Amino acid sequence: MKASSSPNIALIKYWGNRDEELRLPAADSVSMVLDTPTVEASVEASETWKIQSFHADGSDAPQSEKSIERLKKHWSLCISYLEGIGQTDLPSALKIDIRSGIPPAIGIASSAAVFSCLGEAYGALGKNLTREQVSILSRLGSGSAGRNSFGGYVALENHGNGIGSACGKQIASEAHWILHDIIIVPSREEKKVGSTEGHASAATSPLFAARINDIPRRMKECTDALLTKDFEKLQVISEEDALDMHRCMETQTPALHYLSEVTHSILRELEGVRKSDKLNVLYTMDAGPTVHLLCTEDSVRTVEDFAAAQKGCTVFKAKTGGGSKIVSL
Ligand code: DP6
Repeated sequence: MKASSSPNIALIKYWGNRDEELRLPAADSVSMVLDTPTVEASVEASETWKIQSFHADGSDAPQSEKSIERLKKHWSLCISYLEGIGQTDLPSALKIDIRSGIPPAIGIASSAAVFSCLGEAYGALGKNLTREQVSILSRLGSGSAGRNSFGGYVALENHGNGIGSACGKQIASEAHWILHDIIIVPSREEKKVGSTEGHASAATSPLFAARINDIPRRMKECTDALLTKDFEKLQVISEEDALDMHRCMETQTPALHYLSEVTHSILRELEGVRKSDKLNVLYTMDAGPTVHLLCTEDSVRTVEDFAAAQKGCTVFKAKTGGGSKIVSL
């Protein structure tokens, strides 16, 4: 079983869980799935665990003990879920081969791409799963991966309780609206605190409760903006949410300061250029200093030039993409 997938970039962010172990988010979120870079994973039933991973150039990318434990834990959660929906004959161990086209430590979350790739492959080990069920398998490995089982613009929604109670829902396909994501990477240093640890202390921020209460309004604004292709509305709501998530991160205990001086200076400069050149561009940042500039076709050249002019930064380019899929059975 071979599957492929890419990262996604959140417009309304997922931060904090109502259940850490099951990766059930504290609130809904929505993202745009990217078309590149891609990750491929081959999965087979095996007598014992065999996990291998490689960089895009074919060189070894050895997994840490912690990542191996996470992969095994993910499969055991998937077995619980799959058995709960009546699937049988699931192997207790797997041979997994992961090939990642995502350059390491560039601030584009590889976990969403890797776990949605595995979720897709695990879904094909079962029989007749729906896209929502595949999304649940992906989410059990990395919360944001649950937004990759559809293409285009995808929400991760909470419904009720239990292991299957949060799954992806497509808002609109990639054919509806292609947006570009010009990604400016100020630092290629590995971040010190990953999302999993950060989620676990999100609720210690005094701003967390207000954030969670306001998410339903933001989800509605964002969904409406996507459906009507209202870029200005999308910009206002997604920037409000990204900055709010970072205020939450910065006020939780221990505090997480993911944005750097370079991030802030890029944002200040962008705000000036966007006003003077009337660009359709919005910024958003995940758990790192990397700035994602989402823009429409008519603004992309100017945004690319803006990105290329940022000294000491690496630039990557992506656009709206099609989500995780099976490459071969
Ligand atoms: C800031 O999905 O990376 O990117 O479940 O621990 O893998 P894990 O967390 P993850 O959290 C994503 C956090 C975020 C915002 C977002 O993508 O919505």
